[in-house]
Amino acid sequence: MKLMVAGGAGFIGSNFIHYMLVTHPDYEIINFDKLTYAGNLDNLKDIETNPHYHFEQGDITDLDRINEVIKKHGVTHLINFAAETHVDRSIYGGIKDFVLTNSLGVQMLLDAARANSLERMVNVSTDEVYGALGLDEDRKFTEDTPIMPNMPYAAAKAGGDLMCHAYWVTHKVPVIVTHCSNNYGPYQYPEKLIPFFIFKAMKDEPVPVYGDGLNVRDWIHAMDHSSALDILLHKGNVGEVYNIGVDNERNNLEITKMVLGILGKPESLMTYVQDRPGHDRRYAIDATKILSLGWTPKYTREMFETGLKETVQWYLDNTAWVDKIAARMSEINQHIKG
Ligand code: NAD
Ligand code: TYD
Repeated sequence: MKLMVAGGAGFIGSNFIHYMLVTHPDYEIINFDKLTYAGNLDNLKDIETNPHYHFEQGDITDLDRINEVIKKHGVTHLINFAAETHVDRSIYGGIKDFVLTNSLGVQMLLDAARANSLERMVNVSTDEVYGALGLDEDRKFTEDTPIMPNMPYAAAKAGGDLMCHAYWVTHKVPVIVTHCSNNYGPYQYPEKLIPFFIFKAMKDEPVPVYGDGLNVRDWIHAMDHSSALDILLHKGNVGEVYNIGVDNERNNLEITKMVLGILGKPESLMTYVQDRPGHDRRYAIDATKILSLGWTPKYTREMFETGLKETVQWYLDNTAWVDKIAARMSEINQHIKG
């Protein structure tokens, strides 16, 4: 397999590349990334000299550049992680880049997959395209749940997902779409809940909990997400959607207390702040379909505490990575964190 990984310098993409180089050491991995504020080649420092790994800077809205890289490396498969991913930025910052990358960019990748007769493309997407569930509802998101995004980020992702469906039906481009729940693990840019709170708490700064803190997310380790995507690259049915999650619903207060507890910091660091506008109350994934392909996640609900402890320890151990990001973070985050 000669696998182009779009967005491989980000959080999940870099975890996925590590996973693939260990699991399939004979595959060629071509990391195609624009290197936005969220792209970080330090995530891949330990493997940058691996002869099976290649980095190409490029933008997924630039079709000529995508085609050039596909031809140069004889790419056979494509997986897309490239996106603008932070909900708060899609609310308080500019929305244009979200639409360009998350919708138009996916269309460009589909055009390239079609023109170069790629064997398979996987478009990595989010459960947020389904909208929100209620706290007292028994329901989880299935692949048949209607697409009803509430956040601008999720609406732009849904645009890309729907284009995948249309290219499959119209042009028979062999594409799979995935809807995964919230990820945690190493290499995550510290704007999302878990790494942001770890960074804050490490400096004994208050951690801002939105609203009443009772919003629920269904947390999965990025390595389990990676193993699920590996299965879909090999055995998923093209033209179909797969939900990915490990049945691990937790509210934000629980996550916050766990993070503070692991770091040995007092709960008095928790500060309630104004809620996010339109804040989705609950996400929960029914993963029956992908489990039927033989996927066996490691960090199940019972293993969440272990996964979170290992994650916190990773940020504590990787001081050079943390310090470098922290040095430029306040400037990057100014417009969204006030
Ligand atoms: P991230 O923000 O950490 O990384 C995104 C990467 O995409 C960066 O390396 C960035 O440089 C690159 N990129 C952005 N725009 C680009 C463009 N136009 N061309 C090429 N590269 C570009 O994101 P992440 O958290 O790793 O998420 C990866 C994917 O997984 C996204 O598609 C996201 O929607 C999806 N997802 C994320 C989560 C989560 O909890 N983080 C959950 C479910 C799904
Ligand atoms: P986030 O990590 O931004 O992911 P998403 O909005 O895509 O689910 O947020 C996870 C949850 O944590 C969400 O309910 C919002 C909440 N949150 C806070 O309470 N405070 C924060 O500073 C952040 C970033 C998130």
